[in-house]
Amino acid sequence: MEYNGPVILVLDFGAQYSKLIARRVRECGVYSIILPYNTPTEKIKKLNLAGIIFSGGPASVHQPGAPLPSRDLFELGVPILGICYGTQIFAHMLGGKVEPARYKEYGIAFLNHQGNTDLLKNIPSPTQVWMSHGDQVSKLPSGFSALGNTENCSYAIIGNDEKKFYGVQFHPEVVHTPEGTKIISNFLHKICNVNTPWTMENFITNSIKKIKEIVGNEKVLCALSGGVDSSVTAVLIYKAIGDNLHCVFVDNGLLRKGEPEMVEKVFRNHFHINLHIVDAKTRFLSALKGVTDPEEKRKTIGNLFIEIFEEEAKRLGNFSFLAQGTLYPDVIESVSATGGPSSTIKSHHNVGGLPEKMNLKLLEPLRELFKDEVREVGRQLGLPDEIIKRHPFPGPGLGVRCIGEITEERLNTLREADAIFIEEIKKANLYDKIWQALVCLLPVKSVGVQGDERTYKEVCTLRAVVSEDAMTADWFKFPHEFLQKVASRICNEVHGVNRVLYDITTKPPATIEWE
Ligand code: XMP
Repeated sequence: MEYNGPVILVLDFGAQYSKLIARRVRECGVYSIILPYNTPTEKIKKLNLAGIIFSGGPASVHQPGAPLPSRDLFELGVPILGICYGTQIFAHMLGGKVEPARYKEYGIAFLNHQGNTDLLKNIPSPTQVWMSHGDQVSKLPSGFSALGNTENCSYAIIGNDEKKFYGVQFHPEVVHTPEGTKIISNFLHKICNVNTPWTMENFITNSIKKIKEIVGNEKVLCALSGGVDSSVTAVLIYKAIGDNLHCVFVDNGLLRKGEPEMVEKVFRNHFHINLHIVDAKTRFLSALKGVTDPEEKRKTIGNLFIEIFEEEAKRLGNFSFLAQGTLYPDVIESVSATGGPSSTIKSHHNVGGLPEKMNLKLLEPLRELFKDEVREVGRQLGLPDEIIKRHPFPGPGLGVRCIGEITEERLNTLREADAIFIEEIKKANLYDKIWQALVCLLPVKSVGVQGDERTYKEVCTLRAVVSEDAMTADWFKFPHEFLQKVASRICNEVHGVNRVLYDITTKPPATIEWE
């Protein structure tokens, strides 16, 4: 399913912003991919390469073992844009000099143009840019000239027009560089001369064609969760192969209020997709009886899901493919600050391990896309906002939000409290401003007074966070009146709760979910 149009390669030197750079390139209508800085040139040569962007990174070029690209890349004849550390690479490897800046620059600076370059076409001078660097270029590499400066940085932009190598010491990808996307767009359209647009409309047309070719008359099985990734995967495949797609939705009893009904309405009634809903509520409840350890809960839920899914697949007949909603951020080979792989903090159980076990080929039509692109594809395919804008929901569902033992009664309590929280968030028009909002039910009882009666009931916590990619998160600042309203509704309307807390922990140190 590889895209074969022109590609911009973002070469990752461990930058915190590599994904953001790749996303900005795509926002400019050009396809981009991210590869680690030490990717063999042979592999890079196989791409339909229109240009390369060297990401920034936390290292100094003088550090022993500093990440540096292969020299061959300078001989490929494609334009290269260096960002921050990427600029210093030019100076370090092509005969210039990099030194610690006399004044380290973090934050806003103003860039003045020097000379005339396509990179700065239609950009005002001066213009605000975002700086974040300790080292900087102190002597230009041969063939380069200065194209822009700031008060503390004489070489804020350098370039070699003949070779089409450019370096910017600031970060054009962040919002604090208001003209940054235009600078990136100038690089793509005026320097790399890419003119085949990467649009979701083209993506849909090409994907449908490719899915048809790959699948032929065989049958595809898809595990539908109601989340945006599996939903878009299902509808895209359905458009290609119609009734040869079968979707299985397992109702594990750990879902939010109204969820199974919503999935049925959208997929069966609206799209007319073959949808098989498995009522497995009792099986999950009995498997989870007495389980309180978070990892054991996840494993129990994940394993039972696989068991049920396999049974259903067998019952439905012969499948050749398993569809999965894998996205591009799941497959990027990342360079961590230490150079090593990042560790798994929680085991995320979805349908991992299934294809090998069931001897199925994988069909992952969204593998090239970022989340915002998936949402756009969903929108164009006619999926409702209810699904497209839906907050992430973990595979083990309310199971990891019902802290302590999972019982039907506690799940019902949690489901009702959760529904009130989400309903109020939507009413206050805050849903789209929040990455994720959730309620956890704690196995802690406290004394309360309701009416004239003393009560002894459980506590629930509200959590709402803002985040870019769930790796870090900050708590959402609700107005106090909002929190008061939700707390009062939950205590009045939900049997089993008499105290409501708001979780104000960031990630790290906490995670978004409680278990
Ligand atoms: P944490 O709690 O690790 O969560 O900060 C980060 C994001 O991942 C979601 N999450 C999961 N998603 N299966 C999933 O598909 C899982 O097992 C799982 N556990 C956590 C979580 O909701 C948040 O968006």
